[in-house]
Amino acid sequence: MNAQTKKFRISTAVVLLSLIGLTETLTAQESGYKKNDIQPIDSTYFAKDRLKGRVIVVTGGARGIGRATAIRAAREGAAVVIGDWLAAQGESTAKYIRNEGGKALFVKTDIRSTEDCNRLIAEAVKMFGKVDGALLNAGVMDGTFSGDPFDYDKQFKLLPARMDEATDEYWNNVMDINVTGTFKSMRSVAKQLLKQGKGGAIVTVGSIAGLTGLAGNPAYVASKHAVNGLTRNAAIDYAPFGIRVNSVNMAATTTPMTDKAFAYVKEVKKRGIPGMGGAKTESLLMMNDTKHRMATVWEQASVILFLLSDEASNLTGALYPTDGGWTAY
Ligand SMILES: NC(=O)c1ccc[n+]([C@@H]2O[C@H](COP(=O)([O-])OP(=O)(O)OC[C@H]3O[C@@H](n4cnc5c(N)ncnc54)[C@H](O)[C@@H]3O)[C@@H](O)[C@H]2O)c1
Repeated sequence: MNAQTKKFRISTAVVLLSLIGLTETLTAQESGYKKNDIQPIDSTYFAKDRLKGRVIVVTGGARGIGRATAIRAAREGAAVVIGDWLAAQGESTAKYIRNEGGKALFVKTDIRSTEDCNRLIAEAVKMFGKVDGALLNAGVMDGTFSGDPFDYDKQFKLLPARMDEATDEYWNNVMDINVTGTFKSMRSVAKQLLKQGKGGAIVTVGSIAGLTGLAGNPAYVASKHAVNGLTRNAAIDYAPFGIRVNSVNMAATTTPMTDKAFAYVKEVKKRGIPGMGGAKTESLLMMNDTKHRMATVWEQASVILFLLSDEASNLTGALYPTDGGWTAY
């Protein structure tokens, strides 16, 4: 690897480290007062019957944040329709929900495809009669296929890199999924909600990368800013029809996506790339937690389901930083 490429990898590594909180952290001044860690919401907690009778579509529900949200939505009474391009894991989430006594359907979906997005909604209507809300969560951090194990040498050209080093393939893959896929899936949901004429709620998934810049991640940052732009645009277009649209924007949350970031950073370190650190690396809550814990998927599901529920009746067009205070400083 030449010196230039090394530099690009360093900035990328800083960002990925920041996502998973591996570098040195700022510590709070000793004040004499007792410090406390904040315990994450229990994975079994739910608001009984809050979504009773609702039909909620979840893209990217095979694993990670989407999976947890689908499971909790079903516990709260919703019928859940999961769309994902990982068939085995998507089926497994749906089965898990049904085994718990909930209602769930999996539809193999690639959100880059208009046909797939339309079929996802058509299958939801066929099975459960309607759609009330959607979590548009499917997304990628880099240009690799979600199901592929991390392989630095094979995937090098698809991994995040500074703009002057980034490949077309990396850019196109990330934009096709995060931007075009979110647009297409939102369009299919919106058409159905308009047809039904009873309003509804949509939550999109941005990231801290949708609210701030992050070094070495041009496609992810641009794509997540676009998700937030789409969210605001849709909120304006659909407010007259009683359809609310908001986004959640998380910092590091424990999922297969962050596992992959972790593997990437480990590999970069192994290859002896120096100079990491110096950038902001943790959210306020991670920084102050004795174990520097990341957010849990259940913490994300809490906010998402609140936004999909009637409790959020006055909220639309907002980009919620569900980021443990990352963007507060
Ligand atoms: N985990 C984090 O720290 C973090 C931070 C900020 C934002 N996010 C965002 O949260 C969302 C969920 O991520 P996660 O962390 O749970 O990651 P994940 O990789 O575990 O889950 C993402 C899911 O989306 C699916 N998906 C990706 N491309 C798809 C496509 N073209 N069609 C259908 N399904 C597709 C994947 O198969 C996977 O099931 C993503 O949009 C991600 O960008 C995550």
